[in-house]
Amino acid sequence: MKLKSGIKLLHHSIDFSDAIEINLGIIHHKDLISLKVPLIDEEIECHYEDDAYLPKREWRCLSNEENKIISTEAFNKDYNTIYLGILPLRLQNLFKELNLINCKTEKEVFEQFIINKNKVQETNSLLNEFVGTMSNTPVEFLSIATNFANCESVSVDKRKLPENHTFSDLKFIGLHKDSSNIEMTIYTSNKFGNRLTINLGADHRYFLFVNLTILQIYNMLRQKNVGKENINNKNICKLFFEYFPDYPILKIKQKPYEFYIAPTDNCIHDGATIQKQSLDIVLTYLGHFKI
Ligand SMILES: [Fe+2]
Repeated sequence: MKLKSGIKLLHHSIDFSDAIEINLGIIHHKDLISLKVPLIDEEIECHYEDDAYLPKREWRCLSNEENKIISTEAFNKDYNTIYLGILPLRLQNLFKELNLINCKTEKEVFEQFIINKNKVQETNSLLNEFVGTMSNTPVEFLSIATNFANCESVSVDKRKLPENHTFSDLKFIGLHKDSSNIEMTIYTSNKFGNRLTINLGADHRYFLFVNLTILQIYNMLRQKNVGKENINNKNICKLFFEYFPDYPILKIKQKPYEFYIAPTDNCIHDGATIQKQSLDIVLTYLGHFKI
């Protein structure tokens, strides 16, 4: 299926020639042989939720026509634009001094924060200043999180996890939409702003997305005669995958200290750490970011 015009990508400060790829749609996780995830003393397969869908594994560069469809010269709205940028050098250097890139586990990352308390405070205030300049409304710190290397999905419903969980307890949800507000509906998925996520790990990672807004997906499903009453905020991704399994997924490479801004309530997306060797570390803020 061909790309439609929808969510656009802005990337003026980055050399983008090798940063984006496209594929031929999704596949149910059961139809793939799981990649092996390197843990400290063993290799283990990922587990998934029953309805988890992943991008097909064959990727290629975009054609000129596809590049035109997804590119924009200016940040449009916070609900329909994705931006890839890089942290200012001063912030990059402060993060380097925290020495997170040698951490092997989440515990080690938090230990580094405790050891370097003063440096963390300095980094925090500079970071808050930096992210604050990009949002008209107050910015909310969401999380600092780690993910294992070589995973095709990084998203897990953490509310379901037992205390002291291990990798085997994780059930990845695959491509999904976020709901940053519990009252969100498909009609209000564009109202709650966007997310800014910084790669603080040693290797690049990927941001995967479908370049369609939730309302566009709703309209595509209606054209397939899916009843209004049968589409809601919880099932719209699954319906999209059932009716449009061949709609391409886009994959953006996010190098260390690069950040993306994306309307994750309003588009189907996920992260991935495929081919990565080291611990994935990401810092995420919520806001109404605009460049
Ligand atoms: Fe998400």
